[in-house]
Parts: sequence; C-alpha cells; structure tokens
Amino acid sequence: MHKVSILGCGYVGLVSGVGIAKFGNEVICADTNAHKIENLNKMIMPISEPGLKELVQETYSLGRLSFSSDIKKSIRDCDAVIISVQTPQDKDGSADLSYVMQVSKDIAEQLEKSTVVIIKSTVPIGTAKKIRKLINTILAERKAGFSIEVVSNPEFLREGSAVNTFLYPDRIVVGYSGNKDVFAMMGEIYKSPVENGIPLIKCSNETAETIKYAANSFLAMKISYINQIALLCEKTGADIKIVAEAVGSDERINPKFLNPGPGYGGSCFPKDTRALVKIAEGYDIDLSIIRTAYEANTKHKDILARKAVKIVKENNGNVLGIWGLSFKAGSGDMRNAPALDILPLIIKNGIKLRVFDPKAMEEASEYLSEYKSMIEFCKNKNEVLDGADALMILTEWDCFKNADLEKTATLLQQKILLDYRNIYDSSDAKRLGYLYYGVGK
Ligand code: NAD
Ligand code: UGA
Repeated sequence: MHKVSILGCGYVGLVSGVGIAKFGNEVICADTNAHKIENLNKMIMPISEPGLKELVQETYSLGRLSFSSDIKKSIRDCDAVIISVQTPQDKDGSADLSYVMQVSKDIAEQLEKSTVVIIKSTVPIGTAKKIRKLINTILAERKAGFSIEVVSNPEFLREGSAVNTFLYPDRIVVGYSGNKDVFAMMGEIYKSPVENGIPLIKCSNETAETIKYAANSFLAMKISYINQIALLCEKTGADIKIVAEAVGSDERINPKFLNPGPGYGGSCFPKDTRALVKIAEGYDIDLSIIRTAYEANTKHKDILARKAVKIVKENNGNVLGIWGLSFKAGSGDMRNAPALDILPLIIKNGIKLRVFDPKAMEEASEYLSEYKSMIEFCKNKNEVLDGADALMILTEWDCFKNADLEKTATLLQQKILLDYRNIYDSSDAKRLGYLYYGVGK
C-alpha cells in the first residue's frame, strides 16, 4: 500500500485515482478547479462513465480516496505524485506542455520529502528527463536536501469504458531511466492487476513516452485505413463489412478498430497523431505515414459532409436530421467530435439541421453556438425526424441502433438514411423503402 497523490482530476486523473485506490493504495485526488473538488466531495461526478460513481463511493467510504484543491497539502505526505493534467494541442500541432510544466513547478516548490513523480499525461519523448531536471534544480535552489525520481506511466484507458479499461488494461507501461529501485514501488502500486497476470512492461522513460504516441497513432492509422478502403468499396460495389471482417480475421491484423465511420475524433487521436509527427520533425524524421493518416481523416469528414449535401439537395430537401453528436457512443465528450467539422460544412450549404444526442447536447450547443440559427436542438430522437428530409447517424448510441426503422420512415419527410456508422443492414433499410447510404456500402 502506498500513499499516492494525483494532480489533475480529469478523465484520466479521476479514473486512475479511484482505480489505484481500488488496488489498495491511499489516494488523494487534487485539482486546481475548486468547484470540481467541491462537487466530488458531494459525490457529484464531473464526467459520466459507467461504474465511476459506485467505485468512488466504495473507495471513499473505505477511507482510501479523498479529494482536495489544496495542492501543497495533498503532496506533503505521499510516496508518489502522479501528474495527469491536460496536454492539449498547441497552435503548430505540437503538445502544449504548459500545464505539465506548471504542475511540476508546483511540486518542486511545495514538496517536503523525496517522492517519486509519475507522469501519466501523454507527453513528448524527453519530457520526463526535462521534468526531473526542472524539479531537482528548484529543490537544490530551495536547499531542500532531497531530490526526486521521475517515472513515465502512460495511460491507455478509453472514454465510455474508462473504469473498466483502467482496472483491466492490456498492459501497464513503466518507464524509468535512473538507478533507484522505483520499478518495485510501481509493481506495488499496481499489485492487484499485476497479480492478475497483467504484464508490467519495464523500460526507459523515452521508451514509455514513445509507446503511448505509437499506440494511439497506430490505432488512428488503422481507422483511416479502413475508411479509405470503405470509400473504395463504395465505388467498386464490394461490401466493406465483409472485407473488414475477413481482413480482421487474420490474427496478425485483428478485427478491432476496423469499423468505418465518420472519421476518428476525441481528445487524443487527433492531437497525438499531430504531436508525434511534430516530435519526429524535431529529429529530422518524416513520419509521413501518420501525417497521411490524419490528413485522410480530415478529408474523410469533408467527403461525408459533401455527400450528405449532394443527396439532400438532389432530393430537393433543405432539412437534415442528425442522430448523435459526441465522438463515439458511451461518451458525451465533444472534443474534436467529427460532428464539429461535418455539421458546419452542411450548414454552409444552406441546409438546416435538427439534432439529438443522448449525452452531448449541452456541450454540443456550446461548441456549435455560432450556427445556432441553423440548428434545432431536439428533445429526443423522434423530434429530429419532424420535417427532416433525410436522417444522418453520426454516433453509434444503442438508442439509435435499436430504433424502429419502419416507424422512423413514417416520421421523416423523405425516406433517406445516411448511416455513417454502418449500424443498419442496407438490404433491411432498402426493403423499407429507404434510399440507404452507409460508409463503403
Ligand atoms: P482533462 O482536461 O479532462 O483533465 C485535466 C485536469 O487537470 C483538469 O481537471 C484541470 O483542472 C487539472 N489541472 C490543470 N492544471 C492543474 C494543476 N496545476 N494542478 C492540479 N490540477 C490541474 O484531461 P484528460 O482527458 O484527463 O487528459 C489528461 C492527460 O491524459 C492528457 O495528457 C491526455 O492526452 C492523456 N490521456 C487522456 C485520455 C482520455 O481518454 N481522456 C486517455 C489517456 C491519456
Ligand atoms: C483512445 C485510445 O483507444 C485509448 O487507448 C487511449 O488511452 C485514448 O485514446 C487517449 O490516449 O486518450 P478514446 O479516444 O477514448 O481512446 O476512444 P476510442 O474508442 O479509441 O475512439 C477514438 C475515435 O475513433 C472515436 O471517434 C471512434 O468513433 C473512432 N473509431 C474507433 C472508429 O471510427 N472506428 C473504429 O473501429 C474504432
């Protein structure tokens, strides 16, 4: 059991905090956002994730989890401090490290004893080394009489199943380039998953930092790849569903992340692919394969938006219904959601929108506020259909998957379905009289 302090209570910090408490450690989750901490102390969660509130309540009542907006107090007595603040995309595409650097300074100025600093935020290769130097320089200036070690422990959880993917990861990556025995401590913090057979990969800081970007970029590449193959299928008459299944059945490829859709989005793939290309540029390496993956993603959203405009206009329509706005089912997160590129392009072509998402309505209306006069935010999925000439599906929520297509047809002005998550069988839709357009079918 270790005393662990987590700085930054976002998706990653909060879920990691509660997970590490569940593993048997004593955890303080701290954030500079006092309102967030106040709410957490009242058991009001800042994000909606299956199982999160229950696990927070369980570990909190066991006395293993607490929340604080007092950074100094929260790090005073801990064995390890985890940095899990945001690393957003900077203007030039590189990772903005200002939050990570700020929190590192806070640690250096306030720490009262030697501690292991664990970086969970996704950071460019070489950041751990920089942070170690920064903190130890400040500690030396303060004449603190001790120094710290820095461990890289990137996180691979997924939104929408964040708790589960944290508690049961495919692997735990621990990077450390010094000569103290910090791997043993990391093994103790993650004792429970390690005992359950989850591999703990020990490597250098640089290797760990690279693994995170390489993993996200590979997954993004896989999606861009299948989306491009889908566009080809659309022209050749091949069936993308069977193509993806057959290609994925080769265990060297595997079927995951081969679902065509409206393009990948979210808070990480778009920024991490760009950041990795930037990092490589700094070493004179052209990661053209990853650059092409994100350029293809941008183009894909554009192609799908133009296709919708063409179809609606060809059928003399001017209102399009949209089911789903968030970047994927299970999450209400609108950060870099494909809808934020696709909807404005359709609106600019004079088409009005009627939209509904089960979780992202409030956030979406903020992101899309400049287009308010052209968007009707509806109360439910059926209201979207009222007066709509066609229906587009952007997020694969269960409530859309389970919709009654026959009833839907009667509520639409025209039976036109743009199924951009390929959730319906095209022959079923066509049998009901729909003009059906999927991605690659
Ligand atoms: P987030 O924006 O949801 O949360 C960051 C939190 O840090 C905020 O609550 C903010 O108030 C707090 N914070 C900022 N500065 C602080 C400071 N000085 N002291 C204390 N708290 C401070 O971000 P996130 O989505 O949790 O992502 C965090 C990191 O993890 C990023 O590097 C991201 O790339 C990476 N990551 C995210 C995911 C994901 O699914 N969201 C998954 C894996 C890795
Ligand atoms: C992703 C990774 O999967 C996590 O391992 C990683 O920790 C995280 O990024 C991160 O670093 O933040 P997340 O962004 O939550 O997780 O969501 P994913 O499930 O990976 O989906 C990302 C995007 O790809 C979504 O827009 C989704 O709809 C799209 N996608 C995914 C497809 O279009 N097709 C697929 O087959 C799979």
